[in-house]
Amino acid sequence: MGIITKVMTLCQGIIYLGIGTATLPLSVFALILRGRPLDILSKSKISEMNFTLIWRVIGKPAEGSEDQKRSRETVSQAHGVVLDLGPGTGATLCHFDKPRITKIYGVEPNLNFHPALRTAITAAGLDDVYTIIPTGVENLEELKKYGIEEGSVDCIVACKVLCSVPEPKKTIGALYRILAPGGLMLVYEHVKAKSGFAVFVQDMANTVWPFLMAGCNIQRPTEAYLYGAGDWEEKDLKAAEGFTGDEFITFTHGKLVKAK
Ligand SMILES: C[S@@+](CC[C@H](N)C(=O)[O-])C[C@H]1O[C@@H](n2cnc3c(N)ncnc32)[C@H](O)[C@@H]1O
Repeated sequence: MGIITKVMTLCQGIIYLGIGTATLPLSVFALILRGRPLDILSKSKISEMNFTLIWRVIGKPAEGSEDQKRSRETVSQAHGVVLDLGPGTGATLCHFDKPRITKIYGVEPNLNFHPALRTAITAAGLDDVYTIIPTGVENLEELKKYGIEEGSVDCIVACKVLCSVPEPKKTIGALYRILAPGGLMLVYEHVKAKSGFAVFVQDMANTVWPFLMAGCNIQRPTEAYLYGAGDWEEKDLKAAEGFTGDEFITFTHGKLVKAK
């Protein structure tokens, strides 16, 4: 890793942490304005609101951007019964190929996102097939109430969300079981960096990052958890195009096909 790359990685970390910290007072203010003053006493509610404010600004990829292309490539492959993990404001919903969809369950625990998500569902013409499940994907009992159990879904869409699920190894194992044999796990996730220096910067950032970003872990080895979850007929996860793996935020992209 050259000195310029190192400086860029460090700058990325500083900029993201700067944004995350600068929005904290706004988050407290937003909770008060929304008539939830007691929530300012809760670390998790402040954290959730902070990420909500940040994501509402940076979460919609620019039209035609590489980020948007990667999201489209991921989401547009979904078909049949789909589990859409953490759809947030619904920025990726426009990429679903509607004629190939039977049903989509969007599992979104952050209620602050739900109004924007509902608007995105309508804008994408998905009102008749999309159901929001207001919980975390680790809440298997709640998912069961919607008929989501072992072998019940054709595709799982994981766009920038596995960084935030609790007990990732266990949760990803449960997702593997929810997939039907031959089912697709569609992945566009930020992950642990490859090299020592980038990992060091991520390590430093991770001391406050989960609080600033509603539980997100900046350096999760998500590929290893996915590969280890069970037997896959196809394993095709690569560093996203244009990424070396040495960036502060670095992505893996591709799909896994569950063995039949
Ligand atoms: C970075 S945003 C990504 C939103 C969307 N997938 C996209 O690509 O635009 C991460 C989302 O995951 C959600 N999330 C966090 N923890 C989750 C969990 N345990 N189960 C499901 N979703 C979760 C967050 O609330 C947030 O909406």
